Amino acid sequence: MNIRHPFGKRATGFAAVFAAAALTLTACSGGGAGAGGAAESGAAPAPAGDGEVIKVGVAMPTQTSERWIADGEAVKKGLEEAGFEVDLQFANDDIPTQTQQVDQMITSGAKVLVIAAIDGTALSSQLDTAGAAGIPVVSYDRLIRDNENVSHYVSFDNYKVGVAQANALLVGLGLVDKDGNEKADAPKGPLNIELFAGSLDDNNSHFFYDGAFDTLNPFIEKGVLVVKSGQTTIDQVATLRWSQEAAQKRMEDILTSNYGGGSEPLAGVLSPYDGISRGIITALQGAGYGPGLDKGLPVVTGQDAEIASVKLINDGIQQSTIFKDTRTLAKQAVKAVEALGKGKEPEVNDSTTYDNGVKVVPSYLLDVQTIYKEDIEPIIIGSGYYTAEEVAAGLAE
Ligand code: BGC
Repeated sequence: MNIRHPFGKRATGFAAVFAAAALTLTACSGGGAGAGGAAESGAAPAPAGDGEVIKVGVAMPTQTSERWIADGEAVKKGLEEAGFEVDLQFANDDIPTQTQQVDQMITSGAKVLVIAAIDGTALSSQLDTAGAAGIPVVSYDRLIRDNENVSHYVSFDNYKVGVAQANALLVGLGLVDKDGNEKADAPKGPLNIELFAGSLDDNNSHFFYDGAFDTLNPFIEKGVLVVKSGQTTIDQVATLRWSQEAAQKRMEDILTSNYGGGSEPLAGVLSPYDGISRGIITALQGAGYGPGLDKGLPVVTGQDAEIASVKLINDGIQQSTIFKDTRTLAKQAVKAVEALGKGKEPEVNDSTTYDNGVKVVPSYLLDVQTIYKEDIEPIIIGSGYYTAEEVAAGLAE
């Protein structure tokens, strides 16, 4: 079964649509906004030729997930160090709030926008206004769809995230090694699994699920893996607004309808995001599985290395997560804003994959890392993302 979503049209090229805005920015950005050195030295906002500082609007989706708080703060800090003034807003996962915030950023004089959309298709009127005013838009992690005024996209390799999540599930089930090679002593199955995806209005959800399903499907076709609920299309397994509560409820319903309320074997659950994973784990433990992986809790994957989930992984409850270093993504977004401000094309390493329905958006994609229990110390703590104390407490500063 091929469930690839219909956004796959490919094209190339970067139209310098924002030349007018870029010129304005170049004219008034002075030296501070552009230099990497300014970022290092924490320089004060760059005085513009006419004494004006360039304002950047940064729109983030929600504060209910810690990754977006970290993203927002890191982007703000990086931009301020590079000499920009920043208007950072979070939208409580509410689409009208986000559209209003972006409108407000434009009317209050933002010259560049950095946006992580709640619904990738809901910002067209704001992007039309931005385009008409020559304001470049950096789409941050989530691609804004159906509009030509998206200048640049910074994200992670989202298809690979899905592949990594499915691979972690297969590792947990003893079917492959960490490099994805099938194991000689692998169980023959059938092993029962269930599948979850993210919010359908987030372009990323489709990439994650495509990557994951393409990786799991050969095992489903061979009968080694069985999705007992029969729910395998993204429409059936999606989770609106990535809600932990909705995921818990869906897991509980599946357990009631297909697993005798928790008395029948379930080996693993594909989860696209740590909040969803925690909802799933609550439902599983509530039905009597576990409490830990060593006591028969199904293998549950994740994403974002949220502190609560890193603790669960450390405690042998959640099996894995995907680490997306928001510090690196924020840096890349700052670089993109600086380039656009100088009338230059931001650094691009993918100019074919992200068709937003109107054009292929030039992108810079970062790599991700799978985190199992043994990776917490060297990768998460070792890189300074969390301290050992934060992991032990399940709470970050
Ligand atoms: C991000 C993920 C995140 C999810 C839920 C996606 O757009 O790429 O990292 O887990 O949103 O916030």
